[in-house]
Amino acid sequence: MRYAVGALLFLSCASFGAVDLSHVPQIRETAQERDARMQWFRDAKFGMFIHWGPCSVGAKEIGWSRNANRPWDINGVQTPRTEDPVYDNYYKEFNPAKYDAEEWVRFAKESGMKYMVLIAKHHDGFAQFDSKVSDYDIMATPYGKDIVRAYAEACHRQGMKLGLYYSTRDWYHPEYLVGDNAKYDAFYRAQVKELLTSYGAIDVMWFDHVGGQDWGKWKFDELFAMMYALHPKLIVNDRAARFCGPRTPEDRGPPSPETARMTEGDYSTPEGVIGAMNLARDWESCIHVGRGWSYHGEDGFKGPEDCIKMLVSCTTGGGNLLLNFGPRPDGTFAEGEAAVARAMGAWLKVHGDAIYGTRGGPYRNGAWGGSCHKGDKLYLHVCKWPKGGLAFDPLPRKILAARTFANAPVAFTQEDEGLSVTVAENARVAPVTVIELTLDRAIEPGLLAGGLRAP
Ligand code: GLC
Repeated sequence: MRYAVGALLFLSCASFGAVDLSHVPQIRETAQERDARMQWFRDAKFGMFIHWGPCSVGAKEIGWSRNANRPWDINGVQTPRTEDPVYDNYYKEFNPAKYDAEEWVRFAKESGMKYMVLIAKHHDGFAQFDSKVSDYDIMATPYGKDIVRAYAEACHRQGMKLGLYYSTRDWYHPEYLVGDNAKYDAFYRAQVKELLTSYGAIDVMWFDHVGGQDWGKWKFDELFAMMYALHPKLIVNDRAARFCGPRTPEDRGPPSPETARMTEGDYSTPEGVIGAMNLARDWESCIHVGRGWSYHGEDGFKGPEDCIKMLVSCTTGGGNLLLNFGPRPDGTFAEGEAAVARAMGAWLKVHGDAIYGTRGGPYRNGAWGGSCHKGDKLYLHVCKWPKGGLAFDPLPRKILAARTFANAPVAFTQEDEGLSVTVAENARVAPVTVIELTLDRAIEPGLLAGGLRAP
């Protein structure tokens, strides 16, 4: 028996190579442990993404406006690194004298966001933190202070969940995929380690792709083992190994099932769109308010009502919204962008009970809106009223009471064939009429009871 256990242990270690992955949650945790680890994220619904860096000096898109070769990212061709003499020198002018991290966090809180994700390094390779392994960092700017440190301290002081974005894809680093990639692999893991050891508790690591399509070039097992040794409850998105895949015959080829599972991370990241309803896999849509991810000037922002509807679509579909802001080079927010955040905060002050802590469903969402639930409450978020009101498939719970958030009466009939719900036209409000139904008992997470019935 003892030998059998020994052999088993040996085999499982062998299959992971030398790296001990036994504490990596994506591989070993139970469903209950996973629910506990993911709970704050599932409850949060709404986060603030911040794309910021020297590029804002030129009001240019972060990373992508850098006019130089992008190894592996231009038509997948392996091209050597070159420089952009303009973009690569913005950092010499980056001096965000008005950057006030405490104010940022206060503003995010006031706007109803429960977590934040700040760019620590984008594809342009510039570190917004004091990196000991790179000179291309915030300490080389006239500003000369660690932006990530101030942000982390403010998040901690104000109880804000703290996320860091780190782009593994790095078009600036001379070794990245086109030099000695092993050196780059060690470099980026060292930077991730700096982020995870210098700033106290970190709640989310938000990776953003690796170029190249060769698993053999990367030590993802070491990355995850390191991250989870330092922060056992860390939540990681799905892009740590994204865009990797065997490509040439000499590639080491597809990852082990464990590595694949691990690097799929904890949640999916539909980008620029609302994720499709999914009650089984966690997800978060990242969408920018402005014309791009980073600062592009003082206009061109989405309207607050559209952003509120996006939050509703994400929530009812089982996901989160990570709404992106691109501060000005001085560290303040453009008025049009700030106005969106303020309007969402005001809406959430009234409707927050129907968003935070809920779970998506039980009805399929769509153009009409969507549903979500918490305890004995079922919330209907109605964005567009079908003629004659809402007619749903049957609800496997008894409705005891109904009201809108503006305390208008709600007419409903609950029969074997289905549920119909309506509100007088003059009691419907833009952008969303939120209805609260009190049920005889709670709905279990993941339940899908159908959707709108054909009229
Ligand atoms: C993409 C883009 C990047 C952006 C990110 C945010 O990967 O390349 O510029 O930061 O999405 O989701």
